Formats: sequence, C-alpha cells, structure tokens
Amino acid sequence: MTEFYKQADLLNGNHSVLADDIAISDFLQDESESEVVDEIFKGLSAEPKHISSRFFYDAAGSRLFEEITALPEYYPTRTEKSILHRVSHDIIAHNQYTDIVELGSGDCSKISILLDAFEDQEMGKIRYFPVDVSEDAVMQSADELVHKYPGLKVHGILADFMKHLQILPGEGNSLICFFGSTLGNLDNDQAIDFIRHVKGLMKKGDALLLGLDMVKDTRVLEKAYNDNQGITAKFNKNILQVVNQIAGTNFDPANFQHVAFFNPEQSRIEMHLKAMKEQVLTSPNFPKALVVKKGEMIHTENSRKFTNKDIRELANASGLSIQGNYNDQKEYFSLLQLICNE
Ligand code: SAH
Ligand code: AVI
Repeated sequence: MTEFYKQADLLNGNHSVLADDIAISDFLQDESESEVVDEIFKGLSAEPKHISSRFFYDAAGSRLFEEITALPEYYPTRTEKSILHRVSHDIIAHNQYTDIVELGSGDCSKISILLDAFEDQEMGKIRYFPVDVSEDAVMQSADELVHKYPGLKVHGILADFMKHLQILPGEGNSLICFFGSTLGNLDNDQAIDFIRHVKGLMKKGDALLLGLDMVKDTRVLEKAYNDNQGITAKFNKNILQVVNQIAGTNFDPANFQHVAFFNPEQSRIEMHLKAMKEQVLTSPNFPKALVVKKGEMIHTENSRKFTNKDIRELANASGLSIQGNYNDQKEYFSLLQLICNE
C-alpha cells in the first residue's frame, strides 16, 4: 500500500488512504473558489455567453448523464461498449500494463469491460486511477471495482484533467483511457494541445486509448442530443443549478430552453440554453450584474464528431502512432489505440 500511495504523496493535493486497496487524492481542493467563480463570470460576460461543460457533473448531473447513456437515441455509449467487448483482449495483448488511468472516468462500466480481459491472477499487479471532477463517481467506482476485482488497487484522483494532468502516474506501464468521446468536448486546437500534453507524460510503450464519436447522418446525431424523454434537456439545464451552487447566481432553469443542433462547419453538436425572457443575473460573488436578453443563447457544450481524416491528423499532431483503430459495423464510433514509441 505504501508503494501504491507514495507517488501521489509527493505531489500537492489532499491524500487519504480509505482501505488497503483504495486511496484518494483530491486536487480540486487546491483550486480556490474565487478562481472557479471568476472563470464562470468571465464565460457569462463573454459574447456569446458560455459555461464550461465541466460544470454539468455534480451528483445530479452525473446521474442524468448515466440516464442519457441508456437512452435509445444515445448510441455512443452502447456502441463504444460493444467495440470494447470485442477488442479488449487485443488491446491488452503483448502489453503488460500495470497502471490503468481513466480520464473523465464517470461510472466504471467501460473500464470493467477492459478489466474483464485480464486473468484473475493478474489483478494483484494492476493499479487503476480514475480521474474525474465528480467525487461521487470516483468514490462509487473505487468501491465497486475493488469488490468486483479482488487484488486490484484503485487510486481515485479528484481533478480537472484540463488543469492537473501532471498527476498521472509515471512508474509502471501505463494505459491511459479517455472514453466516451469526451475529447470531442474540446475544440480542435485544445484537443491537439491536450493529446500532446498527455504524450509528454507518457513513456515508451505506454498507450492512449481514445474513444471518438464519428460523423454520421445529421438526423441520428441530432436525435441523440434531443431525446424524446427530455433527459438531455434536464442534463443541460442542470448546469444552471450547478452554477447557482458554485457561484451563488440566481439562474432559474425554467426560464431556459434546451437547444442542440449539428454545426457542419465545425463538425460538432452544440448544446445551448436559450433565454425565454430577459433576466438580470446577479450574484454576491460577481463584480456586477449581467443581463441575459430574451432569445440569447448560453453555449454549454460542443461535442465534436470525427472523420477518419481527423483521426489521422490528430494522431500525426500528437506524435503517437496508431496501433489499432477499432470500429463498429456502422462506423458510428472509433476506439483508437495510440502508442508512444520514444
Ligand atoms: N467516461 C465515461 C463518462 C463520460 S461523461 C463514459 O465514457 O461514459 C464525462 C465525464 O468526464 C464525467 O464523469 C465528468 O464528471 C468528467 N469530466 C468532465 N470534465 C472534466 C474535467 N475537466 N476534468 C475531469 N473530469 C471531467
Ligand atoms: C461526455 N460527453 C462526451 C457527452 C457527449 O456526447 O458530448 C456528454 C453529453 N452531452 C449531451 N449528451 C451527452
């Protein structure tokens, strides 16, 4: 356990050992509240107004996302899982991974599919590092996984992967997983910078396993973000409750309408919240009140859809080599295994 814990102990952050096989490091506590409120104020003062998609995921938002993943219209999760079921043995073959890191880990259902590919006796050599801003998600995953996979050690990391990537472990053979097309929530330049940053932390033989949602019929894309039961609308509006909680604002989600559409120029689904009437946004933590005009949109999420050409360009820009590019039959989703050769 000491070995397991040692590395994170050297870094900033708040560390605790919860059990023989569970440790948690919290890097979010290092972020000052005013830093986060400033970020929110800046986004809401900008033209157009925006809120970072990181703020979707409080406990309610994480639950709503899990509901989305089970919707008939939301194909990405079940498609990526079906690919993982088919290829997880190939992914781990010939690579003796000891450290499995998952960025934006959410519930642990995808990593479970990968862990199932290991032999029971190998579990004692594996450390799993779920990295997420959602404390509930990390705690629940840690608890569930150590029971499901005896011998596995879970070191949960509460962190913003945009700010705290240097926390990635550097000792063993690492497989860094970034599922769910969460990379698509970044724009192209951010995504390239992000992958390069990850590559800078990788050693020879380490791999990055990247789930990417592909361009497809616009109707299929738009339905996935405009489901009949209105769960995505609830998920989108919940971001305003999260902002109220963090920044002390007076958003009333009932005054906003969920809007999601495919933007072909940017090859992305955009989610916005459209103000149904003019309102004055105030907070004791904001330097001034802000007016939200009737019809004004607050941009809450981009969800980029990739082509095979985009994937090749991304891999080239990253300096990593493509070891595997796995698809489903309809080519709705890609699971890309990128390897570090130097
Ligand atoms: N990987 C899971 C969950 C995807 S949802 C899947 O494929 O189903 C996106 C996840 O990333 C959520 O769990 C959310 O809490 C987390 N997340 C979003 N922005 C983040 C950030 N900046 N830093 C760390 N985690 C983040
Ligand atoms: C996590 N992320 C990649 C999801 C997506 O599809 O962009 C979040 C989501 N937004 C609306 N529905 C699901």
